Amino acid sequence: MATTYDWTQRKIMVPEQEEIALSTTDLRVFYNGTKEAIHGVTMAFPKNEITALIGPSGSGKSTYLRALNRMNDTIDGARVTGEINYEGVNINDAKVNVFEVRKQIGMVFQRPNPFPKSIYENIAFIHRREGVKDKKKLDEIVETSLKQAALWDQVKDNLNKSALAMSGGQAQRLCIARALSVKPEIILMDEPASALDPISTMQIEETMMELKKNYTIIIVTHNMAQASRASDNTAFFYSGDLIEYDKTSTIFTQPSLKSTEDYVSGHFG
Ligand SMILES: Nc1ncnc2c1ncn2[C@@H]1O[C@H](COP(=O)(O)OP(=O)(O)O)[C@@H](O)[C@H]1O
Ligand SMILES: [Mg+2]
Repeated sequence: MATTYDWTQRKIMVPEQEEIALSTTDLRVFYNGTKEAIHGVTMAFPKNEITALIGPSGSGKSTYLRALNRMNDTIDGARVTGEINYEGVNINDAKVNVFEVRKQIGMVFQRPNPFPKSIYENIAFIHRREGVKDKKKLDEIVETSLKQAALWDQVKDNLNKSALAMSGGQAQRLCIARALSVKPEIILMDEPASALDPISTMQIEETMMELKKNYTIIIVTHNMAQASRASDNTAFFYSGDLIEYDKTSTIFTQPSLKSTEDYVSGHFG
């Protein structure tokens, strides 16, 4: 994907042969009414690929990611302008139902946040609330989701145990299973492995590689090794701007800009 960044139009262009799952046009995020934290980001996310957002702390990665499924709506004083284009619709429009958006574009957070319920209920809960009553159907949703998150074999005999008793890595995979259970198209992950040990981190990365066959994944990471191992495309954010965006191999071996090179080689941030 030879992407070019057009500074005059602040536009990221992606060749037409790539199928795009989601894109933003001149996306800006303001906090407390006035402070602009994201300065007009235009970029597109190829379908069935993993795109990593990297950049130093405070560069706006989480803010941008949260905008993509309207999670900034939950923050008092936050305002998002510009377009978020998904399946031909600008989902940043106030008329769009945010709950539907979040079903299509799921999110996994930095700290695993299972509900204080059983492993089974962590997944079944949402579906029962949506009206699924058939026990066999619920069992099937739970099993399929846990299998997709590579957790089924470890927990299948303990589904009634509290999710709070799980290890951090297992709890995070339960949260991934929960996100997958509503059949999203896109999964947003904000540093999903930063609270985990190296083995759990590898397992999450392996799961992501498996999931991209069926999902589009956008992941924030401050871990350069993780971005270079696990992603197809990498976007470098700095101070609320998208600085450079390209294939991961290009960003890590021959980036166009000196600041990108300095960042990926560990010279700042
Ligand atoms: N809820 C918030 N209210 C006000 N400012 C915020 C909030 N969240 C983030 N910011 C500010 O927005 C900027 C980008 O932060 P963030 O998106 O968290 O960066 P990153 O994820 O890259 O570390 C920072 O200046 C941060 O202080
Ligand atoms: Mg962050």
